[in-house]
Amino acid sequence: MSLEHGSAGAPVRLGVLGCAEIAWRRVLPAVEVTPSVELAAVASRDPAKARAFAERFGGEAVTGYDALLARDDLDAVYVPLPVGLRPTWVARALEAGLHVLSEKPLTIGHDTSAALVAEAERRGLTLLENFAFRHHGQHHEARRLLGAGVIGSPRALMCEFGVPEREPGDIRYDPALGGGALLDVGVYPLGLAQFMLGSDLRLRGAVLEYCARTGVDVRGGALLSGPDGTTVHVGFGFGLQYRNTYTVWGDGGTLSLDRAFTPPETLSPTLELRRGAEEERVSLAAEHQFGNVLSAFADGVRGRRAVDTAPILEMADLVDRFRRSAEGRAPA
Ligand SMILES: NC(=O)c1ccc[n+]([C@@H]2O[C@H](COP(=O)([O-])OP(=O)(O)OC[C@H]3O[C@@H](n4cnc5c(N)ncnc54)[C@H](OP(=O)(O)O)[C@@H]3O)[C@@H](O)[C@H]2O)c1
Repeated sequence: MSLEHGSAGAPVRLGVLGCAEIAWRRVLPAVEVTPSVELAAVASRDPAKARAFAERFGGEAVTGYDALLARDDLDAVYVPLPVGLRPTWVARALEAGLHVLSEKPLTIGHDTSAALVAEAERRGLTLLENFAFRHHGQHHEARRLLGAGVIGSPRALMCEFGVPEREPGDIRYDPALGGGALLDVGVYPLGLAQFMLGSDLRLRGAVLEYCARTGVDVRGGALLSGPDGTTVHVGFGFGLQYRNTYTVWGDGGTLSLDRAFTPPETLSPTLELRRGAEEERVSLAAEHQFGNVLSAFADGVRGRRAVDTAPILEMADLVDRFRRSAEGRAPA
């Protein structure tokens, strides 16, 4: 049976705003293996870049983002533009009646994110941030085990995400594009803490280190606490040995996970449990976290399962509080 374009079972026809590295490396390869989405068009400011993407992944090459939004064959767009440009282009996409999968975080702060969430709701459009970790079963299983008391009562959570220096000229080093480590990597440990402990986190203190040359924040850390007194320590930055990991520490043991935010789809994750002298390695199924995001997005677009926008605003609020706290501590 063939399904009409736009009907409940038809693949979501996706346009891409910007030929970003993350689109090439992760998201478009995931589109290729996710039946509920299909690539219709890819837009770049540079026609040659759009052509290269279309040759590799299919769809039509489009020059300019306006031209992409003016098409009549799209259900949705994926927006991997720099975070500082997302408020404008996500708003334009919503105005064009398109569902939006945005890179993470949606914007640089709460007010702009709240306006976009409200607009999407008003128009009945799905808006999802591409925080792939929230869609990988490894964290859901870790949370289930913690709830089942596998390490007793959790008392502390430590989580870090650090990456080596990027090339000069990278979007992450440009303040005008919303650059900086907090929005690029810091949001992961913060989001993980919210995922594990809930959104009711108190921020006890935050630090950001800035690069004098570019003016963006390049490293940071914070102490937070959960409603039941669980302490949270997060660390993140650029110019660090590659590391993304967390440990939850309870009165009866620890649970740890490495490659927490970047597991390739071929990796069978291992949760490490330590209780007294006992060590157990819990092997989990490999999952394609970017494919899972796309499936969840398509389910939202097609009305099969609603996408919850609360995490967008909870994260944006925490980022705002983080900045205020860190800036309050900056040397004069
Ligand atoms: N979800 C994840 O796991 C994940 C992983 C990595 C990155 N990300 C996020 O994805 C976003 C893109 O990261 P990326 O590493 O892919 O960056 P990137 O390769 O630099 O891509 C950004 C794209 O934005 C477009 N753009 C429009 N105006 C621009 C301007 N003034 N300067 C530079 N680029 C401009 C460019 O597309 P055209 O030249 O084609 O117009 C460019 O390809 C970032 O927000 C990052 O945090 C998410």
